[in-house]
Amino acid sequence: MSTTIIIGTQWGDEGKGKLTDILCSQADVVARAAGGHNAGHVVQANGIYHNFRLLPSGLMTPKCLALIGTGVVFHIPTFLQELKDIEEEGIKDARDRVFVSDRCHVNFDLHAAVDAAQEQELGNNAVGSMKRGIGPCYSTKAIRSGLRLAEIFDEKSFEEKLRRLADGFQKRFGPALNYDVEVEIARFKDYRAAIKGHVVDGVLFMANAKARGANIVVEGSQATLLDIDYGTYPYVTSSSAGLGGTISGLGIGIRDIKEVIGVVKAYTTRLGHGGFPTENMGEVGARLQAKGGEYAAVIGKKLRCGWLDLVALRYSCMVNQYDCLQLSKLDVLGTFETIKVGIAYKDKETGEEIPSFPANHALLERVEVVYDELPGWCSKIAEMCEWSDLPKEAQDYVKYIEDFVGTKIKWIGTGAKREDMITRV
Ligand code: IMP
Repeated sequence: MSTTIIIGTQWGDEGKGKLTDILCSQADVVARAAGGHNAGHVVQANGIYHNFRLLPSGLMTPKCLALIGTGVVFHIPTFLQELKDIEEEGIKDARDRVFVSDRCHVNFDLHAAVDAAQEQELGNNAVGSMKRGIGPCYSTKAIRSGLRLAEIFDEKSFEEKLRRLADGFQKRFGPALNYDVEVEIARFKDYRAAIKGHVVDGVLFMANAKARGANIVVEGSQATLLDIDYGTYPYVTSSSAGLGGTISGLGIGIRDIKEVIGVVKAYTTRLGHGGFPTENMGEVGARLQAKGGEYAAVIGKKLRCGWLDLVALRYSCMVNQYDCLQLSKLDVLGTFETIKVGIAYKDKETGEEIPSFPANHALLERVEVVYDELPGWCSKIAEMCEWSDLPKEAQDYVKYIEDFVGTKIKWIGTGAKREDMITRV
């Protein structure tokens, strides 16, 4: 029995799906602990390409069971649609292997309508959310007016509670809320039968897995710099996307954790609004975007791009204390003659160096980044699988990152496919 946890170190879209998929080949259970259908994990394996949203990507592995854990906010129509899609794509038995905790909060279409109304109200200060109701669903959970999945099976009380919830939001937003509660209630008549067989007691499920000696992989969603506590608040998602969230969101035993792995892209990208000190709005950013095919896995929107920010990565290592890192997309840097890395922040107003990643978003937005410049390798390393085949400059880049953050880089991604990975022992 052992548990391996995979976490995004930056602002998401680091390429967590690929490592998850590789590690799942040895797993009996793969679980998601937080977030909702705002996540996106692209996995390409065994001739199948799937963009995972709510389902755990371990479903790609034959016989592996998948659990959507208690910390997730669960949108039933997305779950049913994704299950249908993945079965049509070739994972025929997916529905026999996927389970969801009955303590998950239900993410209603109501929450998405509230998300849209809130973002509209914020105007220029909008978070840039996916408008999938994630923030509002975690809010109703915290304010204790939300509904757990277990509650939907008591039809009468469920309908009363949803009407009460909708009524409150209707009063708050008026005509800005584009929502009809009776339409959503009617849909639940079909949902109940469709999901009943998937709903389990998540605590018991994990305890049974442990008793069987199962190997468990936890697939982190979003990423540390989007974490509600440790991210660039308020430009964050509404769950605990770091290590803490994986523990509380699943109830895994901390003594069973074998390895906590952070996934970091060889440069930095960000979707949505919010501070991004190394963002490059010029030729470098455009080149990274184009060469890396940098579009958000979730909504296909172009990502903002810039050099690797080691101040942010070191902070992420402090928050989650990764045992090791996986560096992804190193091949994308292959056309740069020199490569910059952000190594310190200075406050533009005072000129003073800031000791770590700042809590105050206004300060983060005005920092000046101090860069170091490393020689590039100007050659194609795509699809390489051996460390010894990498040009010296590429090896030095990897070692520079390791030395700076004090954490070993155990895997290096060199392409989109599962096989395009260097493993260092
Ligand atoms: P929300 O999670 O939809 O509320 O969005 C809040 C912020 O988190 C926005 O800036 C989103 O772009 C960002 N975000 C949420 N999920 C992901 C993800 O899976 N990848 C990248 N960014 C994300």
